[in-house]
Amino acid sequence: MTTKQGEAPAVVTSAVPGPGLLLAPGEVQEVLGAFVLAEPREAGEVAVALGPKEAALLADMPWPLRRAEWLAGRRVAKRLLLAAWRLPSARVEVLPLESGAPRVWVDGAPREDLVLNLSHTRGWAVAAVAPSAVGVDACDDADGPRLPRIGRRVFSEGEAVECGAHTSAQHQAAVWALKEAGLKLRLGGIFDPGARSVRVLSLSPAQVADPAMRVALLRLPSAAVAVAREA
Ligand SMILES: CC(C)(COP(=O)(O)OP(=O)(O)OC[C@H]1O[C@@H](n2cnc3c(N)ncnc32)[C@H](O)[C@@H]1OP(=O)(O)O)[C@@H](O)C(=O)NCCC(=O)NCCS
Repeated sequence: MTTKQGEAPAVVTSAVPGPGLLLAPGEVQEVLGAFVLAEPREAGEVAVALGPKEAALLADMPWPLRRAEWLAGRRVAKRLLLAAWRLPSARVEVLPLESGAPRVWVDGAPREDLVLNLSHTRGWAVAAVAPSAVGVDACDDADGPRLPRIGRRVFSEGEAVECGAHTSAQHQAAVWALKEAGLKLRLGGIFDPGARSVRVLSLSPAQVADPAMRVALLRLPSAAVAVAREA
């Protein structure tokens, strides 16, 4: 999810609890063998120590909202790597692979044993790190109601009813996050293999049809977060 042009980041507090275990903002939580950290977005560009390759990428990034979300992602990722792996941020760079997926570099070398994924919404920046493949996605509850509009593209026959996708905006956000976390696990995008490839069976407990994928749902005050791992 990305921020819309001209809108300041905001955290909308919801009174309705959605599916998933509560995730405390700012606290590292272990889920499915991955460490997860979520932080509320701040307006504008946050301060974060960048390595030379990261600084060069940022210098080529003209759009203010893209710069802001990119920096928010780097900051939460580096804070997570410091907290969970004791890696000082000055030694770490989070650089994109050709697919766009983030790769951790430490002291100038890529770390295959440290898999990172991240997500940014209007309200939150979330990172997950694990010793092997991990996908994470956050979806603001405010964006959940967009799901019916893209339903034909993302749902298989009977899926939305079966998992109760449209029970509430929180459920819709949870479905969205699950599908995207699953796509990111496999380094996939929206067209290849596409959101239909992640069939959501149930939200409580979080379950997808692919027996090779394990998923978990977490709940922030105004967003759903999903984590996907290989089974
Ligand atoms: C990457 C993708 C899967 C999700 O992007 P998104 O939800 O728009 O944005 P998020 O903030 O959650 O995630 C973006 C981050 O994912 C990571 N990412 C990008 N491409 C990735 C890939 N191929 N695999 C894994 N992670 C990827 C990056 O770290 C990126 O942030 P950064 O560029 O600032 O480092 C996107 O390519 C996509 O396909 N979006 C689908 C949109 C949609 O309509 N989905 C409907 C699902 S119900």
